[in-house]
Amino acid sequence: MGKMVAVHSYKGGTGKTLLSTNIAVTLAKHGRKVCLMDLDFRAPSLSTLLNVSKTECWLNDYLNGVCEIDKTLIDLSGRIGNQGKFFVSLANPSVEAIRDMSAKDRKWEMRALGRILSLRNSLLNDMGFDYIIFDTSPGLQYSSINAIVSADIVVVATTLDNSDVEGTKRMLRDLYDLFEKKTELVLNKIMYDDSLRAGKEKLQSLVKDTYEVPLLGVIPCFCDISRAEGKIIFVHEKPDHPFTKILDEIAAKIEKT
Ligand SMILES: Nc1ncnc2c1ncn2[C@@H]1O[C@H](COP(=O)(O)OP(=O)(O)OP(=O)(O)O)[C@@H](O)[C@H]1O
Ligand SMILES: [Mg+2]
Repeated sequence: MGKMVAVHSYKGGTGKTLLSTNIAVTLAKHGRKVCLMDLDFRAPSLSTLLNVSKTECWLNDYLNGVCEIDKTLIDLSGRIGNQGKFFVSLANPSVEAIRDMSAKDRKWEMRALGRILSLRNSLLNDMGFDYIIFDTSPGLQYSSINAIVSADIVVVATTLDNSDVEGTKRMLRDLYDLFEKKTELVLNKIMYDDSLRAGKEKLQSLVKDTYEVPLLGVIPCFCDISRAEGKIIFVHEKPDHPFTKILDEIAAKIEKT
């Protein structure tokens, strides 16, 4: 039985897109059939980062009820050399589509939730996907809440920035708890001298005390990870990089969950 994983955060820029993409690719490299979905309709970025400008249908069209989910799927397996394992379904990045999505009412969002929930049947059961990974908008956007409600696992990306820590704490307490989600935390952009030196165990207990959820991984701030370089599929392009090793461990933990 496949699983849905939402990658979320309180603040923007914590690394959700980088993480969701590289978790998806790592799982595909582990032989799982994976679909990465861009649910960040306010600021779609995967189409640009993955350099895909055309698709038969966007994920927006599926949620609008004008096409089926299989028409949105783009097979990018060739890019990572794992045939039939890595697919994406993308948010439409046009200004018109962004405006359209931000004007949706609650009734539409409820219907969209139904369509996201039904992916369990269409993608996981019928099409044999092992994982759907949702890249989301930060904070309490409706589309992100829909992803959280649908997901089996919520991966929360946070930095050690004070406002991020407090907001993440609140969100863990009020939101994820409400839906009784299996929530795990990734500390991202950690400065080596601040925290890594403290040792992994110390960091683990710090996270447990602060957030009361398990720590899925700690990722240092790597200067060479930069969107500008267009290396979003980092784990494929840099197999020997420490980031790739950390992502390997994170993906293995997700597979065990
Ligand atoms: N560990 C890291 N080391 C260095 N740079 C990083 C790291 N993680 C993320 N970044 C960089 O930080 C920026 C933001 O990352 P990303 O776009 O993945 O965040 P996001 O949470 O998806 O942002 P948004 O909320 O805007 O969607 C990118 O330029 C990315 O390359
Ligand atoms: Mg993002």
